[in-house]
Amino acid sequence: MSAAPDTSRFEALLEAPSTLSGAQARTVEGLEADLSDRLAHRPGRLAHSLSVGRTAEALATAYGVDTFDARVAGILHDWEKARPDAELVGPAEEAGIDLGVPLDLVRPLIHGLLASRTLPGRYPWLSPGVLRAVARHTTGARDMAPLDEVLFVADGIEPLRGSKGPLDAQRAMVGEATLDDLYRTCFCDGVAYVVQTRRYLYPGTIDIYNELVTGKDATHR
Ligand SMILES: [Fe+2]
Ligand SMILES: [Fe+2]
Repeated sequence: MSAAPDTSRFEALLEAPSTLSGAQARTVEGLEADLSDRLAHRPGRLAHSLSVGRTAEALATAYGVDTFDARVAGILHDWEKARPDAELVGPAEEAGIDLGVPLDLVRPLIHGLLASRTLPGRYPWLSPGVLRAVARHTTGARDMAPLDEVLFVADGIEPLRGSKGPLDAQRAMVGEATLDDLYRTCFCDGVAYVVQTRRYLYPGTIDIYNELVTGKDATHR
């Protein structure tokens, strides 16, 4: 039997004190309060979102990404999860979101894209990088920026998700593997999960997967 993955580096990162400035910490506090109101009826989703914020900040520290942007993106990434996925199809159509397949088939992917369109109305100061990371946290993308990768990974490995399947193995890669490798592992494990659970696999996901395993990244191994 192989040894359990060593997640101590990841845990130490999560426990390290925040490096945000006083003004940034106050902004974060305000966003967390707003989210607590918005997701008051979904306490599990609220706890997950706050945990993704802290995890994204920790990953950003480990990989030299802007820690404030990471924390903000983490807190807000599931902003549109205040509504059930089924109720997002209409607003997504109104917002002109087009994934090339009927939106009913990809309901779980909609909330990130929709949030990136609705959040600027409430927080006009959000950076384009934060909005892009939020948009991509459900789908991934071919050309992921480091902040996009940080949010995607943080969403998957935040501690409240427990130790199901490959999660501890992914956590053990933090600070050891490159951010690209960590993202690639999380993305591919996510694809495997969709297949194992016999869910609809979005064709755009297959395209990204094929590129990740055969494209330019493969030449760097
Ligand atoms: Fe999400
Ligand atoms: Fe999430």
